[in-house]
This record gives sequence, C-alpha cells and structure tokens, in this order.
Amino acid sequence: MADKEMIQEKIGEALGLEKAAQKAVEQLDSRGLLEPEHVKKLSKMKDEAGKQEQKMEELVQELTDSDGFDSSTIEEKAAETAEKASKIMETYLGENPDTQEALEFLCLAEGGEVVHYEVLASVAKDVKNKKFGTQVRAILKQEKGHLNLCTKLAKNNAASA
Ligand SMILES: [Fe+2]
Repeated sequence: MADKEMIQEKIGEALGLEKAAQKAVEQLDSRGLLEPEHVKKLSKMKDEAGKQEQKMEELVQELTDSDGFDSSTIEEKAAETAEKASKIMETYLGENPDTQEALEFLCLAEGGEVVHYEVLASVAKDVKNKKFGTQVRAILKQEKGHLNLCTKLAKNNAASA
C-alpha cells in the first residue's frame, strides 16, 4: 500500500510539472523559438494545463478533509519541482536552442506529466476519496493527448526542415 507521504509527494510533483509546462510554452514563445502554428496549437494545451492545475488544487483541498493530506507539503513539493523543471529546460536548450529543441523539450515535459499521472492512477486505490482516481484518470487521458500533440509537432518540424 502506498503511504500518504509518498502520494502527497507525487501530487506535488505532478502539480509542479503542470506549472512548469505552462511556463515553458510561454518562455519558448517569447524567445521566438516557436512558429505561429505551434503557438496556436500549444495555447490550447496550455489552457487545458491551467484547468488541470486548478482542478488538482481544488482536489488537494478536499483531500485535506477526506484523507488528512497536508496541502502545504504538497505546495512546497510543487514549487520545488517547477523550479527543477525550469533548470532542466535551460540545461536542455543550452546556448543556441532552435525550434526543434524547443518542441523536443515540450515532449520531455509532457512525457514527465504522463508518467506522474500514471503513477498517481496506480496509487489511487489507497486514497479514500474516490474522486481522486476519477480525476487523475481524466487528466491522464488529456496528458497523453498533450504528449501526442508535442510529438507530432516535433516530428513535423524535423521532417520539414
Ligand atoms: Fe500537459
């Protein structure tokens, strides 16, 4: 059985990645690394991520009552993870990043989100509040769509170069 500490940590990481992915789209766009057609498609993904973040935040509040979760522990982990992800982005992009690298970084970020929501789905049975599993599975489905979109953009960009 997954313990509460671990589940809280994983929720925090998922939330942090969610925040980081939205920020990454903004930053890559403002650095001129994305084409207008990318921005158009990615802005929908970013909106969805914002909604997911909000839903997760609300769920965390509910879980403090239903399962005795500590929201400040989760928020701390989320902030730490978002910061780590920003550093990973800078490392990945390096000195002279191009559009291909920017799109591939987004694949990396979305892939990380998919994995974290998969992990959360796998421990959902150990959370009393059943809304948790339902919501995590719904978000996981959207995250797979995000990864799919970013993969497609990276493939098309490489093929048209
Ligand atoms: Fe996402």
